[in-house]
Amino acid sequence: MPVDPDLAAPPPGWRAQGHVRLPSPEATGALAIRLASCLRPGDTLLLQGQLGAGKSHFARAAIRALIGPGGETAEVPSPSFTLVQVYDTAAGEVWHADLYRLTDSQEAAELGLDAAMHEAICLVEWPDRLAPDWPDTAVCLRVAADPADPADPDARSLALIAPGDSALAARLLPVLGAA
Ligand SMILES: Nc1ncnc2c1ncn2[C@@H]1O[C@H](COP(=O)(O)OP(=O)(O)OP(=O)(O)O)[C@@H](O)[C@H]1O
Ligand SMILES: [Mg+2]
Repeated sequence: MPVDPDLAAPPPGWRAQGHVRLPSPEATGALAIRLASCLRPGDTLLLQGQLGAGKSHFARAAIRALIGPGGETAEVPSPSFTLVQVYDTAAGEVWHADLYRLTDSQEAAELGLDAAMHEAICLVEWPDRLAPDWPDTAVCLRVAADPADPADPDARSLALIAPGDSALAARLLPVLGAA
């Protein structure tokens, strides 16, 4: 994984509240499915990590689970070029955004992402482009190479980072702990 110098520090008051090891793409997909079952409109997951960390892999599994029956085979393209893909799912509208190509947070507002973060389930890759304006209602999932297993190219670790009083973090942490 190339090291990207652009990963943003979380805003003041945000802290790592839980970690889980993800030894394989399958483990990441399984965690995404479990977390997706806890999501509802108004929830935002900020998926942070270097190029190739597994953000889209996580989002694809989560979106397929949210779509519901038949979603396992749904086409979930990376939004790298379209910036946003919107899905109608059994759990409500889901926005999948990739902000890598944005140059300022105003462009994200123009995409309608601010409003969507209140009304839809949002999965946002490259939230670094919004920093430090991360909404307090969101949770950041930071995916990185697993420092405990540096020789394995598939070994990742995921940290859940959120404000200390985050209701969404409180909802997700028990699921993360079960990984
Ligand atoms: N433990 C793991 N979890 C997730 N993906 C993994 C893991 N191990 C290997 N991979 C592989 O790493 C790749 C991750 O690609 P993905 O497109 O999800 O990255 P990304 O973080 O979205 O990158 P980008 O910043 O370019 O959008 C996939 O090919 C996936 O199979
Ligand atoms: Mg991606």
